[in-house]
Amino acid sequence: MKPIEIKPQIFWIGVNDQTTDLFEGLWPVRKEGVSYNSYLIADEKKAAIDLIKPIKTEEYLIGLESIVAVKEIDYIVLNHLEPDHAGLLMTFSELAPKAKFICSAKAAEMIPGFLKVKKRERFQVVKDGEVIELGEKSLQFFSTPFLHWPETMMTYERTSKILFSCDAFGGFGAIHGRIFDDEVDSLEFYEKEALRYYVNIVANYSQRVISAIEKLSGLPIEIIAPSHGLIWREKPQRIIELYHKWASFAQGPVEKGVTIIYGSMYGFTASLMDAVARGVARTGIKYCLFDGARTNASYILPSLWTMNGVIVGAPTYEGRLFPPITAILEMARHKRIFGRKAAYFGTYGWSGGALKDLKRLAEEMKWEVTHTLEVQGMPDSSDLERAENWGQEFASFLIQADN
Ligand code: FEO
Repeated sequence: MKPIEIKPQIFWIGVNDQTTDLFEGLWPVRKEGVSYNSYLIADEKKAAIDLIKPIKTEEYLIGLESIVAVKEIDYIVLNHLEPDHAGLLMTFSELAPKAKFICSAKAAEMIPGFLKVKKRERFQVVKDGEVIELGEKSLQFFSTPFLHWPETMMTYERTSKILFSCDAFGGFGAIHGRIFDDEVDSLEFYEKEALRYYVNIVANYSQRVISAIEKLSGLPIEIIAPSHGLIWREKPQRIIELYHKWASFAQGPVEKGVTIIYGSMYGFTASLMDAVARGVARTGIKYCLFDGARTNASYILPSLWTMNGVIVGAPTYEGRLFPPITAILEMARHKRIFGRKAAYFGTYGWSGGALKDLKRLAEEMKWEVTHTLEVQGMPDSSDLERAENWGQEFASFLIQADN
C-alpha cells in the first residue's frame, strides 16, 4: 500500500489483512479486517517502527522503498515481538544489514529463542526513558510490560508528539485509505472494534493498561499511532479514555445491563428466551442477546465485560450444560470476567444437569446466581408467562443492585 504521511518525514507504511480468518487463531476478523500498522521515519537516520505480520511482504517493501531503500534503514524499533509485528525480523536482518534492532532488555532475551534471530550484535537494548536522536526527530522509549507481552514498550517521537503505542490503543477493523479518526465514515464501527479487540486481546492485562496510562499521563501526546486500527490525531484522548474506562471494568463497577446468551436444540429453550427477553425489555434496561451456538465468543465477551448482568439460557445436554454455552463461559473465565450477577433458565428432557454445571462455572467466576428457571420439555403458555415475569424480575433486580 502507498505510504501515508502522518507528519513531515513520518509515514504510515502498514498493510491491511482481509484474508486471515482468525486473529491469533481465535478471533474472527475476516469480515472486519485488521491492519498491521508499521511506521517509517525518514530523517538523517532512518527508523522503521514495528514491522508487519509476514503477509503482503512485497507490498510492504514496495511501499517502504518508495521512501527509503530498505538497506539504508538504521533502526528497526521492536516495540513487541508477537509475529504480527516482528514476524519479518529474520527477513529484515538480511534486507537491512546495517539496521540495529531497538528493543527492551526482555525482548533481547527472547528474540533468539522466539524469532530465531541470533545476531546479538545487531540488538540495541534501550532502557525506560532512553532517547535516540535521528536528526531533527528523536525517539524516546517507555517500558510498558504486558501491553501485550512482558517485553513490550512504546515509542514516542518527541518533536511531533506521536506515541507509537503498539497493541495498546489498537483495534480491529481494516483501515482502507482513511487511516485517521477524523477521516472515517463510521467512528462508531472502529470504537466497537476497539472494544472487541480490547476484551479479546488486552483485557487480561487491564491493571497494566491503567499503570501505563498513568505513567504516560505527563507526556504531551498529539497523535496516538497504534499497531492495529485507526490513528488518533483529532482526539487522541478519546481512545485513551476509552481504554481507561474498559480497563477499570476489570476491578470496579461496570455498566448496568444484561447479556443474554442462549442455545437451543429443538426450540424449547429458544421460546423461553423470547419470553425472558420480553420481560427484560419491559424494564427498559440495556440488553444484548446472542445465540451462543452460532456466535463466536469474540463478539459476546465485550458485552459480558461491560455489563453487570448475565442471563444464561441453555438446555441440559447429556446431563451437562449445552456445550456451546459452556465454551463461551469458559472463555469468559479465561478473560477473568468476574463478579457478575447471573440468572439461568433452560429446559431438560428427563433430568436436569445444566444448572449444576452453570453453578460450578459461576462460582469459579464469582458470579452470583440469583434467579433460576427450569422447564421440562416444551414450554406451555403458563411457562412462557412465568418466564416473562422472571426476566422482568431479574432485570429489575439488576437495575436496583449495587455493582
Ligand atoms: Fe498485535 Fe500482541 O500483537
